[in-house]
Amino acid sequence: MPLLKDLGLTTRIHAQRAVIWALARTGDLYSQVLAGQHLADPYPVYERIRQAGPLYRSRLGFHLITSHALCNQVVRDPRFGMRTSKGTSLGFEKSQYEAGGPLLNSFSETDPPDHTRLRQVVAPAFRPKKVREYRVGVEKLAHELLDKVAGRDEFDLIADFAAPLPIAVIADLLGLSGEDVDTERFASFGALFGQLLDGVRSSEQADQIKAATRELSELFERLMRERRDSDGTDLISVLSRAQAHGTVTVPELISACQVLLLAGFETAVNLIGNGVLALFQHPNQRAIVRDDLALMPRVVEEALRFDPPVQSNMRISHDDLELAGVRFKPDTPVLMLLGAANRDPEVYASPHRFDVTRTGEPEHLAFSGGMHYCIGASLARMEGEVALRVLLERMPDLRPAGPAQRRRSAAMRGLWRFPVRP
Ligand code: HEM
Repeated sequence: MPLLKDLGLTTRIHAQRAVIWALARTGDLYSQVLAGQHLADPYPVYERIRQAGPLYRSRLGFHLITSHALCNQVVRDPRFGMRTSKGTSLGFEKSQYEAGGPLLNSFSETDPPDHTRLRQVVAPAFRPKKVREYRVGVEKLAHELLDKVAGRDEFDLIADFAAPLPIAVIADLLGLSGEDVDTERFASFGALFGQLLDGVRSSEQADQIKAATRELSELFERLMRERRDSDGTDLISVLSRAQAHGTVTVPELISACQVLLLAGFETAVNLIGNGVLALFQHPNQRAIVRDDLALMPRVVEEALRFDPPVQSNMRISHDDLELAGVRFKPDTPVLMLLGAANRDPEVYASPHRFDVTRTGEPEHLAFSGGMHYCIGASLARMEGEVALRVLLERMPDLRPAGPAQRRRSAAMRGLWRFPVRP
């Protein structure tokens, strides 16, 4: 929305929301999604978008892709990237909140060579061998969380289990401890940044984001200083040493830590919540799993395909190019609807069926693909598998105790509250 860029912040946010609402009313399908009209179940509207052909042009000014093959192609295509020719990153009016610090300006939003250099520094902490070492700790944590709620009539699956588990895991991996780990505060930051993926909704939200960014920047800056001479194996110590060797700069490190912290739990909490919800909604599948808990890795893969926590990602064209018969000028954004790609009938048999016995089908795109393929995928898979297995082992009769409350975000799909009975 280039015409809006010269207006003041509050005016601009209100104008953007008004544009989204107006376009939603006049039938622009993705504006309807952003306006929250399909929060409970976005998949039927994705099918309508799919019917428009390989590229759906939203009147918001970008194309959307629903095809698994085309999404997979774009995320691997070097002619698309994260930055515009002016070096700015994508997103809706990012300057609105970046004033609070360098958050989300991290390696997840850079192109080579910076992306390659920064990813190499953090990658060792997420290798499958490392993730196998974390498993015992994650199991212990899952049991401890359930011990706390075991005697209760009901508890909140998200606040009492699905959120604190990945928060504790990523905090441990980074080397945060004691009073630096404020689970509730981190959870609220996670929800805040999750909503941000849809764009800023109000000046109040922009202020909250600035304050959260500042708080996290200060936290990581202090820890970096404290760990510079440490020989610890936690990620903050490793990154501080890399900075001392000149491989990365301090702002790069701080934003990498912030993104790892937030990406590390805001997504995994939703994998656990969405997975449990899918099992509740499909009693026949739940019965299959109850008889064979060794199926849990497949449950996790199917939950990721069926209802992925990250519903979309964006790329920007770096060249004059053609995609699916449409010409793209440089700096043109394209949005991949991963949630739709995961239900592409060209790739998955009966794509709208939750089926934990699927085999032989291509990998879903819940973790995207190409050079930005989720760095935490192995960790997330392990957390999801352990969490769901321990939960169902300990509470085989677990059931809903009331309606679940959804997060108000189109890009980050998950539950905010979910009362359950053991
Ligand atoms: C179920 C859980 C998760 C899901 C669904 C998920 C999803 C994704 C997706 C879709 C992307 C790629 C975005 C793009 O292509 O533009 C991504 C990237 C990323 N994820 Fe995850 N993620 C999960 C868990 C995690 C965890 C546990 C961590 C860290 C501890 C993590 C850290 C990251 C980082 C740092 C990137 C950026 C990688 C890069 O740009 O090279 N994620 N994730």
